[in-house]
Amino acid sequence: MLKVNELHTGYGKKPVLFGPSLEISKGKIVAIIGPNGAGKSTILKAICGLIPVWDGKITFEDSCINDSTPAKNVKRGITFCPQGNRVFDELSVNENLQIGGIYLKKKELAGRIDDVLQLFPMLKDRLKQNAGTLSGGEQQMLALGRALIPRPKLLLLDEPSLGLSPNLISTAFERIQQVNRERGTAILIVEQKVRKVLKICHKVYGIKLGKVVFDGQPEQIRHDERLRQIFL
Ligand SMILES: Nc1ncnc2c1ncn2[C@@H]1O[C@H](COP(=O)(O)OP(=O)(O)OP(=O)(O)O)[C@@H](O)[C@H]1O
Ligand SMILES: [Mg+2]
Repeated sequence: MLKVNELHTGYGKKPVLFGPSLEISKGKIVAIIGPNGAGKSTILKAICGLIPVWDGKITFEDSCINDSTPAKNVKRGITFCPQGNRVFDELSVNENLQIGGIYLKKKELAGRIDDVLQLFPMLKDRLKQNAGTLSGGEQQMLALGRALIPRPKLLLLDEPSLGLSPNLISTAFERIQQVNRERGTAILIVEQKVRKVLKICHKVYGIKLGKVVFDGQPEQIRHDERLRQIFL
């Protein structure tokens, strides 16, 4: 479904990614792990079109999307839930969800918002509340819900567990698995909670200093002392 081939990019003149290649097939959950500053978020930003590709090739469903924009990618079926509580603070929960469906017809949008509220019932009673007044965990759920409104084929998730209590992390991961299972949404997820993400992913890439240093099955990391030391 998505192929990233020898990706080079960075910020200004500073290179950050030095040719990582990765792949995600339809309906799978693939994790990207690695230390702070390794370039994990940068990979997701390049895929969704927020930063330019300097060299290499990103292919989605057999089309090259190197020069695509985030808006075009949403229409193709790729949405991005960025790191940190990226909601529109001054807008209500409902308005935040509506923004997720900016390319949908009004009729369709209402149904999509209902779907998201079923997945995250805690948002139901807060539809009129300003998103900035939600707790960190609720904001995270809202951001995830907003990314799901377009019913993406591929969801890019950047550290969905950030700032959540252990209980909420488990809930968030259950929801992510549920979306994958029930809708067949492919999910490329960056996570620092490595042990937790290894339990739900089908495949994992380890990134260090802008390069892939490991790719394989989650069990391989759990059972290899050297890999455990690097990534766990
Ligand atoms: N907007 C930016 N402008 C300049 N440099 C940036 C920018 N965003 C990231 N960088 C740099 O790019 C490198 C990789 O950053 P990135 O955010 O991809 O790391 P990461 O693996 O997601 O780390 P973390 O686990 O801390 O989120 C870092 O050295 C960072 O300082
Ligand atoms: Mg990051």
